[in-house]
Amino acid sequence: MWCPDLKDKTGPRYRQIAAAIGESIDNGALPEQAQLPPQRALADRLRVSLNTISRAYAEAMKRGFVCGEVGRGTYVRTGGPLPAQVSRASMSRPADGPVDFSLSLPAAGEGAAALTQALDNIKASACLSDYLDYQTDADIGHHREAACRWISRLGLDARSDNIIITNGAQHGLMVALLALLQPGDVLLTEAMTYAPIKALARHLGLILFPVDMDAEGLSPAALDAACRATSAKTLYCLPTLHTPTTLTMSSERRQDIAEVASKHDLLIIEDDVFGFLPPERPPPLACFAPLRTIFVTSVSKSLAPGLRVGYVHAPERLCRSLRAAVNLSCWMPPPLMSEIASLWIEDGTADRLNEFQRSEARARQALARKYLNGHGMVSDPSGFHLWLPLPAHWKADAFRVAADRQAVKLLTADPFTVSPTDSPQAVRLCLSHELTRERVGKGLEIVARLLDETDDPGVLVV
Ligand SMILES: Cc1ncc(COP(=O)(O)O)c(C=O)c1O
Repeated sequence: MWCPDLKDKTGPRYRQIAAAIGESIDNGALPEQAQLPPQRALADRLRVSLNTISRAYAEAMKRGFVCGEVGRGTYVRTGGPLPAQVSRASMSRPADGPVDFSLSLPAAGEGAAALTQALDNIKASACLSDYLDYQTDADIGHHREAACRWISRLGLDARSDNIIITNGAQHGLMVALLALLQPGDVLLTEAMTYAPIKALARHLGLILFPVDMDAEGLSPAALDAACRATSAKTLYCLPTLHTPTTLTMSSERRQDIAEVASKHDLLIIEDDVFGFLPPERPPPLACFAPLRTIFVTSVSKSLAPGLRVGYVHAPERLCRSLRAAVNLSCWMPPPLMSEIASLWIEDGTADRLNEFQRSEARARQALARKYLNGHGMVSDPSGFHLWLPLPAHWKADAFRVAADRQAVKLLTADPFTVSPTDSPQAVRLCLSHELTRERVGKGLEIVARLLDETDDPGVLVV
């Protein structure tokens, strides 16, 4: 049985063992795909607690040396350990401490080997100096073509000339608001919306007007009424895997929304940031209203958020002002980052990374069904999130505090609700941020238990 060499190692035992795993991979004692010893056997051999070995394996996973699942064993990763910079980035996902369902991040850790490969390819290219220079839109034509191929898979009839590259979807949204609206303008949104839109609107002097939703998301009748009641000329919405409710509009609903938009000459900013997760999905709203929709997406949820690469596809008449807003806000996104995304799209890596996100989302949603079945959760089998309307005996804020006391972090509806007085008693959980499925299961078990308790603080024993 492989046994770590802890000679001369200092610091906590679990870190010593994790470091020894890394060294054994480097010196070949642990080849690719080798299975690490069962935790109990190694604990006995080293005369440490089982918990120390569990922490050591979780730490090794965090550093990218190994992968695996509880019950199925821990294996040395293929493609070697993650580079150090990726291990550092994953520090925002601790292997111990509270289970954090509050952050909306994709699952960690499958892109590092691909990044090494992409950087090697870039290193070998003849025009490295281009990445160091200011670029015109024409210079990055091949990035727009790759983006065009990528988003066309969603059913969008995209044109590369109509693509604007941004620093992620968040920047894409800001660029759209900067280009399309003036201070004092009304922006329509779903009654619950992506929380930063509220802050962006406040900073840009926009007036947010909430539009009611039903079981399929944004209601066409409510949108029609909102257009009549306001002078709004722009709608921001999330038709696919809406946050926080996880709802996806059907094709019929999209058609109805497009018709209302056309009737009121409304521009639509469609946030499709989660759109690559479902393998089967209705076409983007932009397909139903191509001349009035600014389609915004990014590689953050499908490939890697740290690349900060976003794609906006817009009707030709709006492209100029959108590009001007990119110039104004950041001059230009770094071409090196969109080069990496383009290489991944072209060589199939993007498909592989996206498939990893999909399968991880599916596995975690299955865990949610196991623990929360019968508790009225709303979720999509390929989404990252859960929406949990609470039983009558719980107020959302009390539930959040109770979960926090039991080391589980989650969000109430408040940050998402445009009119705070209308906040439903519900919570949102993001399942993808945690490093391991084991921790997701542990957190869900606590949430399930809490749902059956009352919010009487005397009952909640920490
Ligand atoms: C609904 C929604 N839109 C946009 C974004 C921003 O994504 P990006 O990382 O591409 O800026 C997020 C990030 O969580 C999101 O949840």
